[in-house]
Order: sequence, then C-alpha cells, then structure tokens
Amino acid sequence: MSKIDVIVEKITEEATDIKSLRLVSRTGAALPPFEAGAHIDVHVGGVARQYSLCGDPADTSAYLIGVKLEAQSRGGSKAVHALKEGDCLQISEPRNLFALDAGNGPALLIGAGIGITPLVAMMHQLKARNTAFTLHYFARSSEHLAFSETLLRTDAELDFGRMHFHLGLDAQATGDQLDELLARPEPGQHVYFCGPGPFMEAIRQRCKDWSKETVHFEYFSAEPVEVTDGGFEVIAARSGKRVWVGPDQSITDALSAAGVEVCVSCEQGICGTCLTRVLDGTPIHNDLFLNDAEKAKNDQMLPCISRASTHTLTLDI
Ligand code: FES
Repeated sequence: MSKIDVIVEKITEEATDIKSLRLVSRTGAALPPFEAGAHIDVHVGGVARQYSLCGDPADTSAYLIGVKLEAQSRGGSKAVHALKEGDCLQISEPRNLFALDAGNGPALLIGAGIGITPLVAMMHQLKARNTAFTLHYFARSSEHLAFSETLLRTDAELDFGRMHFHLGLDAQATGDQLDELLARPEPGQHVYFCGPGPFMEAIRQRCKDWSKETVHFEYFSAEPVEVTDGGFEVIAARSGKRVWVGPDQSITDALSAAGVEVCVSCEQGICGTCLTRVLDGTPIHNDLFLNDAEKAKNDQMLPCISRASTHTLTLDI
C-alpha cells in the first residue's frame, strides 16, 4: 500500500497522557476519503502503529488521531508523543475493519479510555446520517476524558442526553452499568465498542446472545506480548525454507527477512489478514482474532503475533 507524506499541523493535549494530532498532506491536497471506524498506519520512530481516525469523515482536509502514551510503549506511542508541530511523517491510506452498519438502526457506542477515538468519528457520521445513537464513555476521571469538548458540543447541537460519561467506576460498578446498557437491545440496534481487553471481554460476554451482525468491536491494541522463549524455527512448507525466529522478532518479520512474504495488515493479531495453516508443531496463540475453540485446534495461527511452544513450526506458506 502506498504511503502518504503528511505534516503534523496541530497537536492538542486532550487529556492526561492523550494528545491529538491533526495531520495534513505535505502537498496541501485533500487526503483520501474514509468512513468512521477506519484507521491508518503511522510510520514513526522506525515502527508502524495503527491509530483510529477520530475526525469528521466529511472533512478530508486533515486526519485527526488520538494517541495515548502507553506506560509499556513498544516505541510507537512514545515516538508519536515526541513529535512537534511541523514535523513530517508517513502514513498509510485508511483501512476499515470497524465500519458502521449500512442500515439506519439505532447505534449504541461504548468506549473506554483511548478506545473512544473511533467512536468520535462514528458520532460525526451518525449525526450526518441522522441516525439515532447514544454514546457511553468510561474513563478514570474527568482529566482522562479525551475529546470531551467535541462530544459535549455535538450533544448540545443535537438533543442533550446522547453523551453519557461514566467516571471513576470500579470493575463491579462498570459491570453493573454494562448490564443495564446491554440487557435489552432495542429493535434493530447495533452496538459498537472499543477499549482495553477486560472491558471488551465484559461487553462481549453481555452481548453473546445478541445477533452476531449487530455486535461490532475493535481492540485498540493487542496487549503487548512478553517474549520469554529463546526462539524457534519456522519451516515455510511451500519453499522448504527454514527460518530462525529470534525472541525479539515476529514470525512474519523473520520470514520477510528471509524473502518469504506473508500478507499483513494490523501486525497485532487483530485483523486476521495473516491467518496461516499450521502443518506441524504447536503454536502459542497471542492473537485476538481466533476464538477459543479455533485456538484449541492448533491448525491455524496468526504469525504476526503468535509464537511456538515447539522447537519447530511448519506453516503452509
Ligand atoms: S496482520 Fe492482522 S492479524 Fe496478523
């Protein structure tokens, strides 16, 4: 996918540890159009990281992203937070794995922490479509609420009561609130949610009896994977190439360095692009794409993030 050269036009401190960056094309041209829920790869500090677009999809003069400085940053958020206005960088074209349903059923948007970002773009798009929605935003405190001005302004422009902020709730209180929100879906209602892993699991559990097509979610990031193994060997069955995967390397990176290309997108075990059949050996599944039953079979894996518990792993590539 081609890269786009952009300039950081504006940086705003949105909340504790959260900055927004407004990115404009270096040529001054409009940026490619996007739909709410889309993300871009941001190439900075020698790594590529995915960030949701949180601006109004109707405005392609700039892209807006919100980035939280992660305490356990693998390099991405730290490098983004070090950027200054006027800096140049490269981004990918938008991709969307979390699109709004095309219908006009009411939308329930639920975000926690930095997981609010794709929902802000959804709010803009739903407002433009005149589709009914409510947005519930869970955060530690008012200092941790990002984009609150935009949300409150939109609430005032529509009818008050669409935005609900839930601040400082513990796990029990959050669960109680989710029970209330998700107990009875309205006819035609779709739910969209994004946030940290335990929050996502809490919602997924409560939606397990909803019709599958009405439940939409996106993990904003797979949990960082602690690499404790000393490495292992991957055999690319189609070419017979044997490739050593070091403890600080992904399988896809090691294969790519050896000239065996695997198609990747998120590189975080979320999107499923790199799904590969396992012919021999046992994978350690670190992804968020396969369900528990699929993982238990050990016959396929996401090599962008998963590893091996056996010395050798043979893949159908
Ligand atoms: S590239 Fe997205 S799951 Fe591997």
